[in-house]
Amino acid sequence: MRKLIAGNWKMNGLSSSFETLNALLDGLSDDPESEQAEALICPPFTLIGAFAARCKGTKLKIGAQNCHAAKSGAHTGDVSAPMLADSGARYVILGHSERRADYGETDKSVAARVIAALDAGLEPIICVGENLSDREAGRTMDVVLAQLAGSLPDALIGKAFTVAYEPVWAIGTGLTATIAQISEVHLAIRQALVQRFGEAGRAARILYGGSMKPDNAKDILSTSNVDGGLIGGASLKSEDFLAIYRTAQ
Ligand code: PGA
Repeated sequence: MRKLIAGNWKMNGLSSSFETLNALLDGLSDDPESEQAEALICPPFTLIGAFAARCKGTKLKIGAQNCHAAKSGAHTGDVSAPMLADSGARYVILGHSERRADYGETDKSVAARVIAALDAGLEPIICVGENLSDREAGRTMDVVLAQLAGSLPDALIGKAFTVAYEPVWAIGTGLTATIAQISEVHLAIRQALVQRFGEAGRAARILYGGSMKPDNAKDILSTSNVDGGLIGGASLKSEDFLAIYRTAQ
């Protein structure tokens, strides 16, 4: 399966970030070996249009970090999936744990936005992951599988989609899940996806996210059922993102 190396810039990025973008494009074009993995950056909404225009015809794709479930209407401050597609986004991250925590996003609201993304022709990257107390109480599998069941709508049958397993305690903390933990959860996710979505579940990519860095990426990305990474902090530095990307070949 072709791996996906996705950068989640979160609430970081100004017009000066074109420097980083240009460095990423240089690094990707210098690298003929790098045909295999797909590279994606999800900047804040304000940069999507300009970044997508700059990346046209290059190896780097642009995505978003959220969308509304409705196509348009009276939702002050929100951005819809058709708007993202119109700006040149190809992917959208949905149900990230920071949004679940900050805005009380539920599995149900994530599922509604997945449908909106599919309708707009965007590939959803749906995030799941346990927090530290779930992990310590031995509830990791229950939590992750329940999020998966609730956040993924039946509309995904026959569609291309990506799931990101991001243990909340590993995000931005410098703590990474062990290979054994990653391998166990990714296998359970794969089995659940295949059982529910058949071929589409077998073809879906399962990314790992949570303090992925150049020095741990190789081990993580060579674990079975790990089909790429969702990278926060390290994706803000072009050299780190490129180093992780090259590890994915
Ligand atoms: P991190 O973030 O790589 O900074 O841990 C990952 C994410 O939140 O997607």
